[in-house]
Amino acid sequence: MDFVHYSVMKNEVLSFLVPKSEDALLVDCTLGEGGHSEAFLQKYPSLRVIGIDRDRSIQEKARSRLSGFGARFQAVNAWFNDFWDSYNGEDADLVLFDLGISMFHFVESGRGFSLRNSEKLDMRLDLDAPVSAMDIVNRYDEKSLADVIYNYGEERYSRRIAAAICDMRKTGRIETTKDLADIVFRAVPKEYRYKRIHPATKTFQALRIEVNKELTRIEPALEGAMKHLKRGGRIAVITFHSLEDRIVKWFFRQRTETLEILTKKPVIPTEEECETNSASRSAKLRVVEKR
Ligand SMILES: C[S@@+](CC[C@H](N)C(=O)[O-])C[C@H]1O[C@@H](n2cnc3c(N)ncnc32)[C@H](O)[C@@H]1O
Repeated sequence: MDFVHYSVMKNEVLSFLVPKSEDALLVDCTLGEGGHSEAFLQKYPSLRVIGIDRDRSIQEKARSRLSGFGARFQAVNAWFNDFWDSYNGEDADLVLFDLGISMFHFVESGRGFSLRNSEKLDMRLDLDAPVSAMDIVNRYDEKSLADVIYNYGEERYSRRIAAAICDMRKTGRIETTKDLADIVFRAVPKEYRYKRIHPATKTFQALRIEVNKELTRIEPALEGAMKHLKRGGRIAVITFHSLEDRIVKWFFRQRTETLEILTKKPVIPTEEECETNSASRSAKLRVVEKR
């Protein structure tokens, strides 16, 4: 099986998350293809890992990749906030969040995360979820659409884009990534059309966040992880955009009675890593320890 995802800041994560006992428990809240988990399982021969992911397809890849570790690895299919809500197992020594989605989603999933290929607009990590990106672009009223695009995409032309989407709906359903990318392209001013990133990139990010409720899950999950963390245990969080990072930063700052912040400034990838994996460029790592 091929793995398309390059695990971000693997060395930095390993240097902060050092188990204090031989059979320590790591909860990897965003298992993905299992790259980070594999690095931990290889480095610490008695470490145990619980790996959470809501996406069944990518989790299958991780399961097969990590099958050689036997009972030391356990996969759980859940949203990470729901996992912590119902967790009644032993307290964790180490917790990792590597937020967002994986290269697998852009390149292989066929669910319309990337605007490079023309695919059905879906964007659900959980294929049992009732609302897809197609539902949102075809059903939300203009104001709600503009709010999503503005709040989750930080897109300054959100109103023009929402108006163009609603206009296009009068002539038929918007079904593919290409349909949507073309609408956005035409809706924005000419000088905005040929920048480094495609003008629809932020709209796509916004829809993905809305479909999967990505931002609203972070705080309750951090709360749950903190509650089920041993004293002296550590939580590391990798974020990929300012909306995520703001939530994590404020969460940690408001709980300094319980959590010691180990990264006064977020750790960022080395220049070398950014060159090898351009997707890591915006990554920030924050780590705390339970007092
Ligand atoms: C950036 S990838 C993780 C990559 C992984 N660290 C690796 O090295 O292969 C994030 C993963 O978390 C999953 N995910 C994102 N938000 C989630 C949530 N709220 N609950 C559960 N899984 C989530 C995505 O499906 C994706 O597979």
